Amino acid sequence: MANQNSKLRRKEKDVEHRLYVLVQIGHHLVTAGTLELNDSGAEFSAQFTYAPNYLDQAQQGKAFALDPVNLPLRATPFQSTSRFYRLGALFDAAPDAWGRTVMAADAGVSPTSLSESQVLLKGKGSGVGAILFSPVEPQSETLAVDATAHLPGIGDLDAIYETIHAIESGAQVDPELRDMLMSSWDIGGARPKVVVVDNQGQEWIVKFPRTIDTYSRQRVEWANLKMAEAIDIRIPEIGLHELNTGDCALLVKRFDRTRDPETPTKILRNHYLSAVSLISPPANFDKRQLDSAFGASIFSYARIASVIRQVGENITRDLPELFARMVLNILVHNTDDHLKNTGFLLSANSTGYRYRLSPLFDVVTQEGTTKHMLHIGPGLAGQPNAGRIGSLENALAGSRSWGIKPKAAREIVDQVSAAVANRVQFYKEAGMTQEEIDLVQRWVSADATSNDLPVVSSKPRG
Ligand SMILES: Nc1ncnc2c1ncn2[C@@H]1O[C@H](COP(=O)(O)OP(=O)(O)O)[C@@H](O)[C@H]1O
Ligand SMILES: [Mg+2]
Repeated sequence: MANQNSKLRRKEKDVEHRLYVLVQIGHHLVTAGTLELNDSGAEFSAQFTYAPNYLDQAQQGKAFALDPVNLPLRATPFQSTSRFYRLGALFDAAPDAWGRTVMAADAGVSPTSLSESQVLLKGKGSGVGAILFSPVEPQSETLAVDATAHLPGIGDLDAIYETIHAIESGAQVDPELRDMLMSSWDIGGARPKVVVVDNQGQEWIVKFPRTIDTYSRQRVEWANLKMAEAIDIRIPEIGLHELNTGDCALLVKRFDRTRDPETPTKILRNHYLSAVSLISPPANFDKRQLDSAFGASIFSYARIASVIRQVGENITRDLPELFARMVLNILVHNTDDHLKNTGFLLSANSTGYRYRLSPLFDVVTQEGTTKHMLHIGPGLAGQPNAGRIGSLENALAGSRSWGIKPKAAREIVDQVSAAVANRVQFYKEAGMTQEEIDLVQRWVSADATSNDLPVVSSKPRG
């Protein structure tokens, strides 16, 4: 009976929501299409249809497919029963676990009870990329865009940090402070964060510690990103901000926002697609298939490499850079390298719309000895289900299938290894204590200190 009642209650809540999907192109917010959402209870279904006007604009080269692989420009609708399948481009602009935690705290409900349409409509236009949502059809296709007006500043970070602690421990929060967090709750990721604007009007993502952290993940992320920079991997501008508590926050300049040089109060948004959106895993993917060949065909660096070949603007630069990012993740033991932690930025030029790998982000040394989230290589002979093992042998064994010659792959490995061999210097520059350094070193790959790499076979692998 109780079951029946809850089913009924869920039925009553069944509402179809229609949202307008807007995309900022240059100075203008343009209606790209409509999103019909049915997100009652356990069920989720969504349908996106491009607006006829948008398709006309695209024909004239003035607008682009929101996802060139999964949402090609056409008049017929696109359907999905998952946030990640086919319509991922739209959900990239929505919050993940952290934003939902803040929203739920604000509404006094559990994060899982929030519906997808609530989540999208409560967005503040701070989500990654150029997409926003509206419950009503905008009257004009050229709305003014002023995104920074509501954002807190760097001087607010101590107060915001206190608020984050309060939210995490379920305590009451001053509404004014909560507003500061809510102003950017649509930025993704699971860790506590906020978007701030600096004195020059530039936007930064600020990543805070959690009380359960055993070392400063902010300092480690800073050090890892600096190692990446030392080997020419593109990173955003970053900085460390010491908080009053003695903790430290990581500031990461947004790569998807620029100020309009002609109207400095206006912000330009650049369209962004995560690797998970472009790859679009089937809605019914079962995690137990992760280590199989089918799992590898979706959740692997090799698959991201094939996406670069498909949509890349600078394939010869981005393919080796992706390989270097993978090797760095192995050596600094960043096993949390899931498909949302790689992204692409739209690049428009005279030949059309293509994509570049976005600058690197979220490279944090992880505790424990779990496998990587993505397949690194084919796995080595005699090791079943070993594609996700983070060894340089595994990485090198797969490089040929990316179109990278063994010698070039080996050079990349040597370059990344040299930067990571200097890691203590970077840790010290980041202000880590010796105790913290020792703790982090426990998890950093043994390969990072070894010069004794395997000889690469020049025969292609089957
Ligand atoms: N520099 C940046 N500019 C714009 N968006 C970013 C930047 N860095 C990260 N993002 C976006 O914010 C999300 C969360 O950031 P991330 O560093 O991955 O945080 P978390 O550690 O919580 O996963 C990313 O998935 C990406 O969509
Ligand atoms: Mg992340």
